[in-house]
Amino acid sequence: MRVLVLHSDVPADAPADEQDTLATARAVADALRQRGHEAMLAPFLPSPQAFHEAVKRANPDAVFNMVESVFGLGQFAPVACQMLEIANIPFTGNLGAAMAVAGDKPLAKGLLRSVGLPTPDWAEPPEWRGLADDCPYIVKHATEDASVGLDDGSVLSGRQAVAARAESCAAKYGGRWFAERYVEGREFNIAILEEDGAPRVLPLAEMRFEKWPDGRPKIVGYVAKWHEDSMEAMQTVRAFGLERTEPQLAQTLRQCCERAWKLFGLSGFARVDFRVDAAGNPLILEINPNPGLEPGAGFAAAAREAGLDYPQTVERILKAALRRAGR
Ligand SMILES: Nc1ncnc2c1ncn2[C@@H]1O[C@H](COP(=O)(O)OP(=O)(O)OP(=O)(O)O)[C@@H](O)[C@H]1O
Ligand SMILES: [Mg+2]
Repeated sequence: MRVLVLHSDVPADAPADEQDTLATARAVADALRQRGHEAMLAPFLPSPQAFHEAVKRANPDAVFNMVESVFGLGQFAPVACQMLEIANIPFTGNLGAAMAVAGDKPLAKGLLRSVGLPTPDWAEPPEWRGLADDCPYIVKHATEDASVGLDDGSVLSGRQAVAARAESCAAKYGGRWFAERYVEGREFNIAILEEDGAPRVLPLAEMRFEKWPDGRPKIVGYVAKWHEDSMEAMQTVRAFGLERTEPQLAQTLRQCCERAWKLFGLSGFARVDFRVDAAGNPLILEINPNPGLEPGAGFAAAAREAGLDYPQTVERILKAALRRAGR
């Protein structure tokens, strides 16, 4: 097949998380070629004319959609999906509507709550209704991912401190910021891959904080994710094997993933991030409708644990797209 790998239009001076998209797009194109496809790359240009010209030039049977941001904003990523939907081109991953809803953390949390799926308490500006004064919160972006703006200073207590942090982050990074109860506890990043039209939860990955300095919040912040040589990156270590060691917890996590998949109408692939509180209850932090596909990152690692090498994983994602399009 002819597959166009469509990626974010990343300026040369963009931050590390955005630059990474380009390297991943090249890795995906290589993987497609290894599977016998013809693959070419193009940036997504958010103008109808430029989009149609790029598509016409490439004349693809399918698009591998790696558009994580438009105008540098994750919030606009659904636009690429929606333009592909309108152009009637089979494309990988989630539909625009699912991207928009799951990608808005407070909105997604409200939906999770409404069906009884567990997620930490949260509060939003301007009133911060429900914010408890005596427990820690993490202040995070409502619609951006990649741990943008997350560092030790993100975890704090008290209405005033929370509101001040949200305001300074909004001034620095833009967008809406909210506060979520900080859950001190284990972290799981769980990959889901569509197989024959149904979600298949891949081996469960725990992110362990090793030799973490006392008193520092245990969070996978921006530095841990994007500065490979940092202490934070080296001391956050992925581990598999929960299915064997704690089958009950593993089963609960899997069920939450399957219910979330259905609730948000997900397709292709996704990743659900959890913390498990001191009482052993899993809480959903977020649903990632377009998780990173870097060969070394969580999604590919979970697939590898399931016995799929990188080209096979990429092929499965493509296959789900073709199935959705009835091809
Ligand atoms: N409520 C919470 N309690 C404890 N830690 C949290 C909480 N929310 C976020 N974190 C920490 O911050 C990290 C990033 O948060 P989250 O997954 O919500 O945002 P993101 O930036 O969208 O991430 P991604 O890059 O996975 O899309 C989490 O992996 C976790 O370590
Ligand atoms: Mg996350």
